[in-house]
Amino acid sequence: MNNSAQNDKYVFNFNFDEYLDIETYKQRGGFSALESALKEEQDNVIKKIKQSGLKGRGGAAFPSGIKLEMVNRAEGAEKYIICNADEGEPGTFKDRFIMTHIPYQLLEGITIAAYAAGAEKGFLYIRHEYPKPRKRMEQAIKELEEAGYLGKNILGSNFSLELQIFSGAGSYLCGEETALLASIEGKKGRPQIKPPFPTQSGYKGFPTLIHNVETLTNIPKIIEKGPEWYTSLGTDDSHGTKLISLSGDVKNRGLYEVPFGTSFHEIIYEYGGGPLEGHTVKAVNIGGASGVLVPPDRLHVSLEYGTCAEEEITIGSGAVFVLDERRDILDNVHNRVRFFLHESCGKCTPCREGLRQANILLERFRNAEASYNDLEKLERYTRVMQDASFCGLGQAAGNSLKTSFHYYRDEYISKIRNEEPAEVIA
Ligand SMILES: Cc1cc2nc3c(=O)[nH]c(=O)nc-3n(C[C@H](O)[C@H](O)[C@H](O)COP(=O)(O)O)c2cc1C
Ligand code: SF4
Repeated sequence: MNNSAQNDKYVFNFNFDEYLDIETYKQRGGFSALESALKEEQDNVIKKIKQSGLKGRGGAAFPSGIKLEMVNRAEGAEKYIICNADEGEPGTFKDRFIMTHIPYQLLEGITIAAYAAGAEKGFLYIRHEYPKPRKRMEQAIKELEEAGYLGKNILGSNFSLELQIFSGAGSYLCGEETALLASIEGKKGRPQIKPPFPTQSGYKGFPTLIHNVETLTNIPKIIEKGPEWYTSLGTDDSHGTKLISLSGDVKNRGLYEVPFGTSFHEIIYEYGGGPLEGHTVKAVNIGGASGVLVPPDRLHVSLEYGTCAEEEITIGSGAVFVLDERRDILDNVHNRVRFFLHESCGKCTPCREGLRQANILLERFRNAEASYNDLEKLERYTRVMQDASFCGLGQAAGNSLKTSFHYYRDEYISKIRNEEPAEVIA
């Protein structure tokens, strides 16, 4: 993906042919950020992360420096750090690559973040379907412990970090931070009400810093090269780079590190080489299953948190899936509804019933048995699900439905059985 000769422009020095070993990582400057961070006050480290403008890459884009400070300032006999490596969003494969190719940079980031937050215990919560990354992380943790970069009195300092790996059991919902906490505590992996936020009351009620793999992997580079370097990447609105998992009907599928400010058009046509020979882009799904459908004439929008929020495009975990003209939009949307129906915990009615009804209605469309009334019902249930669901799963499950009604309405109409639209009585 990246060329390490140009590594001043990159945060993640992936080389897909290379599975970095600890010695090579050290030779390339690895652990120098940890060494310098441990010599600084915790507040200084937090200040640098704040200045960098780093935002969480797990989906919610919350500023990392503020989260670190919240945990640092919270009262607690113990504090925890959790690295969220659940990576359940369909179409996302960036965390897997980080763990298999540059595990040391991730572990260095976890350790620096733990030091800044004041957390001396932590977990790497890794999805069950990732046996290879889990093995690689187990090995890397062992190596770091042996080399004095993890464990008791790291590099001779007063700071210690005990890091354990926890395997999820395959639930998408357990990527949500409160469900994840419940799952580690041995409870049912269901979301809990917020506040209190994990920063105040997380694992077993102790203040807990929860960050995504990609977020934490940014941290060593911010400390090593400085926040000014980091803010020079990207735009005024969004600093740094973003890992994009590009897949679907595009020539060069894969993982790309792109600076914020790159347009989705560039991501698909320049990084991805455009649609497959003889085909055209019909829609692009941005943000994974919980993301939106975007038509080709809106791909000029640039990858930036502010712009995307204004344009109602969900960056989410950075999954970009291209659909060419051969794809059926309803088929795509129905697939996602079935996915969410399977993953919903059933705790709240709008999500549980909304998805069940959406599934039935979409089947009617696909069998050409639907009516205009069914379209109106599907839109209404989608709105209720988005507005009234308890957690992010139900709230986001309607994103692709909503954008499909807006941009691809004709596809619904074409599947309505032969009847006139119902007369609207004022
Ligand atoms: C249904 C659902 C699933 C989620 N899955 C993940 C996931 O797989 N990985 C992840 O890092 N965050 C996931 N999140 C977001 C987490 O709740 C949390 O915001 C994130 O781990 C915080 O890390 P960050 O600040 O680095 O983004 C999910 C959220 C929801 C609502
Ligand atoms: S929105 Fe869905 S997944 Fe979330 S609590 Fe409600 S039923 Fe469970």
